[in-house]
Amino acid sequence: LRGRSLSVTSLSGLPQWEVEELPIEDLLLFEVAWEVTNKVGGIYTVIQTKAKTTADEWGDNYFLIGPYFEHNMKTQVEQCEPVNDAVRRAMDSMNKHGCQVHFGRWLIEGSPYVVLFDIGYSAWNLDRWKGDLWEACSVGIPYHDREANDMLIFGSLTAWFLKEVQLIHVIAQFHEWQAGTGLILSRARKLPIATIFTTHATLLGRYLCAANIDFYNHLDKFNIDKEAGERQIYHRYCMERASVHCAHVFTTVSEITAIEAEHMLKRKPDVVTPNGLNVKKFSAVHEFQNLHAMYKARIQDFVRGHFYGHLDFDLEKTLFLFIAGRYEFSNKGADIFLEALSRLNFLLRVHKSDVTVVVFFIMPAKTNNFNVETLKGQAVRKQLWDIAHSVKEKFGKKLYDALLRGEIPDMDNILDRDDITIMKRAIFSTQRQSLPPVTTHNMIDDSTDPILSTIRRIGLFNSRTDRVKVILHPEFLSSTSPLLPMDYEEFVRGCHLGVFPSYYEPWGYTPAECTVMGIPSVTTNLSGFGCFMQEHVADPTAYGIYIVDRRFRSPDDSCNQLTQFLYGFCKQSRRQRIIQRNRTERLSDLLDWRYLGRVIVIMFVTYFCLWQTEGFKYPRPSSVPPSPSGSQVSSPQSSDVEDEEEDARYNEEEEAERDRLNIKSPFSPGRVPRGKKKLHGEYKN
Ligand code: UDP
Ligand code: G6P
Ligand code: GLC
Repeated sequence: LRGRSLSVTSLSGLPQWEVEELPIEDLLLFEVAWEVTNKVGGIYTVIQTKAKTTADEWGDNYFLIGPYFEHNMKTQVEQCEPVNDAVRRAMDSMNKHGCQVHFGRWLIEGSPYVVLFDIGYSAWNLDRWKGDLWEACSVGIPYHDREANDMLIFGSLTAWFLKEVQLIHVIAQFHEWQAGTGLILSRARKLPIATIFTTHATLLGRYLCAANIDFYNHLDKFNIDKEAGERQIYHRYCMERASVHCAHVFTTVSEITAIEAEHMLKRKPDVVTPNGLNVKKFSAVHEFQNLHAMYKARIQDFVRGHFYGHLDFDLEKTLFLFIAGRYEFSNKGADIFLEALSRLNFLLRVHKSDVTVVVFFIMPAKTNNFNVETLKGQAVRKQLWDIAHSVKEKFGKKLYDALLRGEIPDMDNILDRDDITIMKRAIFSTQRQSLPPVTTHNMIDDSTDPILSTIRRIGLFNSRTDRVKVILHPEFLSSTSPLLPMDYEEFVRGCHLGVFPSYYEPWGYTPAECTVMGIPSVTTNLSGFGCFMQEHVADPTAYGIYIVDRRFRSPDDSCNQLTQFLYGFCKQSRRQRIIQRNRTERLSDLLDWRYLGRVIVIMFVTYFCLWQTEGFKYPRPSSVPPSPSGSQVSSPQSSDVEDEEEDARYNEEEEAERDRLNIKSPFSPGRVPRGKKKLHGEYKN
């Protein structure tokens, strides 16, 4: 839109800005969220990944507003002075009146400007601002709800700031109820700004689903005030609902959440804006396969340490599965995943499979640091590595000397008694009295933790006979961890399958991230991402997106379906996995903000101009699907061809197939729907 103009007065319900044809250059765009520079969950990912595309479009007119936390500021933001006069004046005025407003460039792609408010510094205004909120919409916040009080301070500061910059034209997008108070107060004060409220979940949806209520079959039957009251979130619910109803435009991230919002918040979202990612393309298509091999080796090393003394399984035939995200046990589907793992363990055992599955649960919980046994595992591995290395050096030197003398050394005596003793001692040190630990940390709520309690019930204790091993890592991953020093992205690349069988998941970034990294994943038809893929990809399974039906099946049936997906995955040969990864990665264009952003603009225009748009569908892959039964891999060799050259050949063949098909994203400019067309029509290739 840059460089063009927008007739603002023609958009109904929006402020009557005086200029009829407003140059886009004079518009400021503010995006307000509690997760700006502050990682909690997926909203951080939305903002962080979208920043580059938005900054490219809006340049210096784009600002993010969030809370100030010293650590986040120090590690993620480069402080600078605002160039924009209105923003500088607004900050100066607030700072003069006892606030602390920080400004800088957020060091992420696109380096957008951020305006960060120190919440604690302005807390002395709390009572007054509670009064303001009460006057604006008769919502009172109890003193003991610290989070809601912080959100009120954040919202009041946001509205104050927007009032100070009011001289020019402003669009402000507020994410989730936490940022919503800023919107309510701006509207109550009649600020001349255009507002968008985006919900990424509804409070009630999250709470009701977590209580194992049959949510989707009762959407229209809940007494929502009563439900909110009983859960002591009535005031939060009111803040959320008021934000929704005050906004000029209400959006959400998926169709399924749109339906939920209509029932829980009593307003149908005007536009659905699916979440994208910032997709990085490698110059060589198979580069992501090399990364998989590289990071898998790092995970294998960790597993060597974790299972020391019990490494009686073949790491080359070991698959790494994982689930990750906010620790909401049943909402994230950790409950049915564990049950399915127990069934998978049984199947692999009775079928005498030589495959071992190591499953990681990456879900932050309260802990007091790593446990000793886990750290010891890595120390033992390191010790064995060092000994092997020093013996190898000695061996090599003796061999070299013998060859120089023109002799073949006596292999039985090439190592002396001391070497043997050291090695024996090292082997003895790998003996352990206990099984390899299920969790890497000391859990504060060990006895009541839902994952651990379920593991105790189903008996998945990492015993030798188990073909499925479980590791709970109750902390997000970090490259500076002394235990598993890997970033989340590196870890995902090194795994074989992400498993996200969520019951409540408005979008679900984790499977989307797997897709753009070429890692297959399991999702559900109750997650925004799963529904999006079902709608836009002709045969998601063929592309490595397994969609569990949690909508029309009983929990037990869904669990069986998940078990079958997992078992089928375990039966694939390496070659089939490589082909499948190539297919998965092909879908990444679908999830790229560069395309989604364009589609979203079209959706907005459609909303305002009542256009109708044509849908689209990604075609089936032309070659055979990679399921073991359907595979036409005709190599006479066994399915476990370990030959790297062979793998490389397959990578190249896949690249050739891609070129042959000349697959282009349905979002590429030529296919972006234009004009008056049929809603939800299918794109036929
Ligand atoms: N994530 C992370 N580090 C980890 C595990 C997960 O940064 O060790 C991120 C992941 O990249 C994803 C986000 O957490 O972007 C979770 O977002 P999602 O939308 O899947 O769920 P939410 O937590 O918002 O419900
Ligand atoms: C990638 C690499 C191959 C490697 C393969 C392992 O494709 O390019 O060299 O053999 O990964 O795949 P796996 O599914 O067994 O981890
Ligand atoms: C919320 C939802 C998650 C979604 C994220 C980003 O945290 O729980 O499903 O992916 O927001 O929209």
